[in-house]
Amino acid sequence: MKDTDYLKRYTYKIIANDFNLAGKGSSDIKTNLKMLGIDPKVIRRIAIISYEAEINMVIHSYGGDLHCDIYKDRIVIISEDTGPGIPNIELALTEGYSTASSKVRELGFGAGMGLPNMRRWSDEFEIMSQKEGTKIYMTVLI
Ligand SMILES: Nc1ncnc2c1ncn2[C@@H]1O[C@H](COP(=O)(O)OP(=O)(O)OP(=O)(O)O)[C@@H](O)[C@H]1O
Ligand SMILES: [Mg+2]
Repeated sequence: MKDTDYLKRYTYKIIANDFNLAGKGSSDIKTNLKMLGIDPKVIRRIAIISYEAEINMVIHSYGGDLHCDIYKDRIVIISEDTGPGIPNIELALTEGYSTASSKVRELGFGAGMGLPNMRRWSDEFEIMSQKEGTKIYMTVLI
């Protein structure tokens, strides 16, 4: 299976530190999945996964792309950014671990629950990270 074998792809550019636009991509994905008649339970899971991935790119990365790929039997959310990467993935996946600044915490983020929830609500979860960027694949079977 290649990254490009999807039936349909929605892509959103995610801009670092843009809190006005943050959440727009995941909200659009939700609207599109509703229009496609996807099971509401699946939509709920995709909404959580894509929102957390999007916010993480806004807060922690230099920006990147959020993809929502539709296949016959599954939906795959792909988050890919251009760095600075996650030095310790296992630690980052620990509930409550966060490097969010006090300023970001004032906005209500930084509980350290995003990555654990992305993994929890995915049927398949794969994360790769180096200084040049972080790429996460999150699959929900439909
Ligand atoms: N795309 C990313 N690029 C670089 N670092 C990241 C990225 N996503 C997550 N991290 C790192 O992993 C940590 C844990 O992420 P997680 O989403 O679980 O928590 P958070 O974003 O800090 O808080 P919350 O998601 O609960 O608001 C982050 O604090 C950050 O250090
Ligand atoms: Mg987060």
